Amino acid sequence: MPINAPSLANLSLVEFGGRLRELKDSGVNFFHIDLMDSHYVPALCLPPRTVRDVKTLCPDAVAEVHLMVDDPTAYLDELRDNGADWVSFHLDSTRFVRRTLAAIRERGMRAGVALNPSQPVELLRPVLPWLDYVVFMSVEPGFSGQRFLDGSMERLAALCRLRSDSGLPFQIVLDGGVDYPVARQAAALGVDVLVTGIYMMFAQPDGIPGAVRRFNAEFPQ
Ligand code: DX5
Ligand code: ZN
Repeated sequence: MPINAPSLANLSLVEFGGRLRELKDSGVNFFHIDLMDSHYVPALCLPPRTVRDVKTLCPDAVAEVHLMVDDPTAYLDELRDNGADWVSFHLDSTRFVRRTLAAIRERGMRAGVALNPSQPVELLRPVLPWLDYVVFMSVEPGFSGQRFLDGSMERLAALCRLRSDSGLPFQIVLDGGVDYPVARQAAALGVDVLVTGIYMMFAQPDGIPGAVRRFNAEFPQ
């Protein structure tokens, strides 16, 4: 069953601590932390310091950082020092994908590559032996609340086929516009982590505790 990974970029600073506590108290122990530099994508959020704040409140949780930045290597020391567990960067954000993956692993973190909707899944094949996970984007990166793009489920299925063909044990994180119909199909395909945002965690009628209960009922851990 896939892990619930709430996307913290959905939260305003005003509500950040309270909502994080609610997620923790509901049993969530995996957080997706978007880091945007206003160059790779137009938006600017969240600071690397967010990782420290999350780990302070939830020391046992996994902090999964999704870098949407022009120079991923420049962030790695700070992310390690703040307690990041998983770090991914976009395939087209560096000319040195292998070296960047190695730099993440050398710092004791799990290394991932993020793939945009416009990029063929086959682009990943050469780098698969060097990574721990793939962040499969089903929206253009840059902001929360977009709709799951047409054709993404077929592309996701192609990635799952590539995984079984390669025999490599990397994990798959699905990010962008994930709602329940999407989540069910993705779970059936074997996706490991669902990034849950506005549709599954932050705009549910019974608030965060109800949203987490619903997730756990659909996907018993
Ligand atoms: C988009 C981000 C996502 C986003 C997901 O650039 O990478 O993590 O916050 O949240 P929803 O599903 O609400 O768009
Ligand atoms: Zn993300």
